[in-house]
Amino acid sequence: MGFRRSAAVVVMLAAAAPIAVALSAQPKTEANPAAPVPAASAPASSASTAAPASAASAGDAAQAAEAAFTKLEAVATKPGDATAGQAKAAACGACHGMDGNSTDPQYPKLAGQSEQYIVTQLMRFKSGVRQNAIMAGMASTLSPQDMHDVGAYFASQKRLPGVADAKLAGDGEKLYREGDASRGVPACMACHGPDGAGNPGWRVPNIGGQHADYIQAQLKAWHDGTTWGSDAHAKIMPAIAQHLTEQDITAVSSYVEGLHEAPPPSAPAKPDAID
Ligand code: HEC
Ligand code: HEC
Repeated sequence: MGFRRSAAVVVMLAAAAPIAVALSAQPKTEANPAAPVPAASAPASSASTAAPASAASAGDAAQAAEAAFTKLEAVATKPGDATAGQAKAAACGACHGMDGNSTDPQYPKLAGQSEQYIVTQLMRFKSGVRQNAIMAGMASTLSPQDMHDVGAYFASQKRLPGVADAKLAGDGEKLYREGDASRGVPACMACHGPDGAGNPGWRVPNIGGQHADYIQAQLKAWHDGTTWGSDAHAKIMPAIAQHLTEQDITAVSSYVEGLHEAPPPSAPAKPDAID
């Protein structure tokens, strides 16, 4: 997967004058009729800003979004500054919680999420490859450096754990830890880790303790054809969710909400007499 940039290059480029991100600029329209966006990826996005009139214009819109995303990713930035990010994140607190621990389950927790994953999602919202009307508006005013700074801030916050529904957690645990080879479902744990913490280097998100409602909504949307772009990375979860049933999604989402980092080994139990 080719998303690692050399740190030396980033530092070199960061010395250059800030590059204005001109989203309004004409996206390069290299003649590329051979690679249309598959029609199957067009429906399902209920939150889409402008309903495309035809398959051709849907393809054009998707291509423009991809071009805008590529441009955002190419902007030189410095590693995020959590202190600067805290000030820039003030507008996010209403939904995501000031410390990134949202209370309303439709808004994902950002606390303990990796900077790189947050940056990627903000670039996707801003460019439109991940479609959400609210977040498109929120991301529109953020520069790539702002995205790194708010990402660093939320990454530095401690995620509060959630609680799984005991009735669902058993089935969810089996799927999470073992998958179901007979149906082509890989173990979630293989990528998201035993405690759901993910892998920042590969931009696999921390899902441990995330709200079940939010997880369920994403898995269902992927199952129904939503995508977050057309690069290899964006194809991973839709390909997996396709094989999940509604019951799978409910169960695994609940189990994931209950996942959290193993607590530090507790002090050995002491006989009452010693206390
Ligand atoms: C009015 C409510 C609202 C505000 C304010 C808001 N968000 Fe969001 N945010 C959402 C919703 C809703 C989603 C889920 C979108 C979806 O389902 O795709 C979301 C998703 C996200 C995600 C994706 C998380 C993931 O796990 O994939 C990131 C990152 C994010 N928001 C960052 C921010 C930042 C940074 C700000 C402040 C600049 C902000 N949000 C402000 C509502 C909000
Ligand atoms: C091959 C590795 C891999 C496996 C296996 C995998 N995931 Fe993922 N998952 C990812 C990656 C990578 C992303 C980020 C996708 C993106 O940014 O486009 C992701 C994203 C997610 C998200 C979005 C989280 C957020 O904050 O928006 C959820 C939910 C999720 N995965 C759940 C699952 C579940 C449940 C399973 C098991 C049924 C699973 N994943 C299996 C790699 C994997």
